[in-house]
Amino acid sequence: MAVDLLLGLQWGDEGKGKIVDVLTKEYDIIARFQGGPNAGHTLIFDGNKHVLHTIPSGIFHKTATNVVGNGVVIDPVIFKKELENLDVHQINYTSKLLISRKAHLILPTHRLLDAASETSKGKAKIGSTLKGIGPTYMDKTGRNGMRVGDLELDNWKEKYDILTEKHLKMLDFFDVDIQFDLKELEAEFVAGIEKLKTLTFIDSEEFLNTAIKEGKTILAEGAQGSLLDIDFGTYPFVTSSNTTAAGACTGLGIAPNRIKEVFGIFKAYTTRVGSGPFPTELFDKDGETMAKVGHEFGATTGRPRRCGWLDLVALKYAIQVNGVTQLMMMKGDVLSGFDTLKVCTSYKYKGEEISHLPYNIEPENITPIYTEFKGWSNDLTSMTSSEELPKNLLEYISFIEKETEVPVKIVSVGPDRKQTINR
Ligand code: GDP
Ligand code: IMO
Ligand code: MG
Repeated sequence: MAVDLLLGLQWGDEGKGKIVDVLTKEYDIIARFQGGPNAGHTLIFDGNKHVLHTIPSGIFHKTATNVVGNGVVIDPVIFKKELENLDVHQINYTSKLLISRKAHLILPTHRLLDAASETSKGKAKIGSTLKGIGPTYMDKTGRNGMRVGDLELDNWKEKYDILTEKHLKMLDFFDVDIQFDLKELEAEFVAGIEKLKTLTFIDSEEFLNTAIKEGKTILAEGAQGSLLDIDFGTYPFVTSSNTTAAGACTGLGIAPNRIKEVFGIFKAYTTRVGSGPFPTELFDKDGETMAKVGHEFGATTGRPRRCGWLDLVALKYAIQVNGVTQLMMMKGDVLSGFDTLKVCTSYKYKGEEISHLPYNIEPENITPIYTEFKGWSNDLTSMTSSEELPKNLLEYISFIEKETEVPVKIVSVGPDRKQTINR
């Protein structure tokens, strides 16, 4: 078996990009399986910071092949910008970045529909990244979408025109004022397509299964987090793809029995960007400290992230749905300096104490019940081994391991590639 999965266990931004980059040297292929440019994966090394939206986080290593899988949705305009950033850093991607023909394309009008839908919802908006994700996946499941493989046909522009025409009619349906210049948007889109066409398009399920037969190793890179999963997340405040382990099978064409390790990434606390319930959210100084010390601003939209204590009820739920075999705890360094730390170990739900994630987790239904831990004051950011970590942090980790019954194999103590401790 040659495929390992790496995915976020909370509401995204757990640090997936950083860890994929750290692990890439151990794999032949890194493959993104879902989501699109709603993702923002941050990599920091050699004094440089890179934010990837669609391109897999293995791209900075010479050895690995990077595959954008069929489950991903690609915006050629954003993709072009990502490639141009690689050009600036003289990263040669032509031979090591392969795109699935079955990946769907985000059209400019998908973005407009996303904006119109959000505006029409008013206060009930999802808080989408406005990258057109929902409308693109709607066209995919509605069997109207445009795929990368269509770009190899002579009539792709006809397909584009038909779909765009339909979207313009749909825009009229929303009674909101969205300003746009379609000609300008189309020019950008066509330029993006031209750039995309310089890359190699593949039948990615064939490519990946052949690689497996040849004994090559694959790391599947997730986007978003389990609590944003279209089925298992906090619906409707979710994204439009399966962010959980099963999404890697459908998003890459890899059978479940090919998957070996499932790496689950979580922050030592919790963040969420966008709307929706968040039981352990803090509105006090502690939450402000996490946001400030953790620089909790969205890598894609720059919006401030909501912060709160670690929610073990939600974490266990995500571990179960994904079959996580190894945990990786991120941003432990951000918690240095708190006298007391809290971990939510159960909920008060309709007068009863429960330890599972119920259907309704809105604040009016749920009160978190916390277990308290002594904090630590040591700066972790230059620590390189588990032995150096403060006793109280090790106790915090042991408690998580005991509760989840999964070992914490990596402790991340800073954003840089090097600030990573293996256990
Ligand atoms: P992703 O979407 O899961 O790849 O995560 P993001 O890149 O959106 O957000 C994670 C943020 O935390 C980025 O700014 C990272 O540089 C940063 N980061 C990752 N790991 C650590 C860590 O252990 N400590 C600190 N302080 N920052 C981290
Ligand atoms: P990465 O891969 C955090 C959130 C949005 C919104 C909801 C739906 O960087 O962890 P969408 O644009 O998908 O329709 O938005 O999902 N969201 C993310 N939050 N990290 C992400 O990706 C996210 N991608 C989408 O904020 O609440
Ligand atoms: Mg992110």
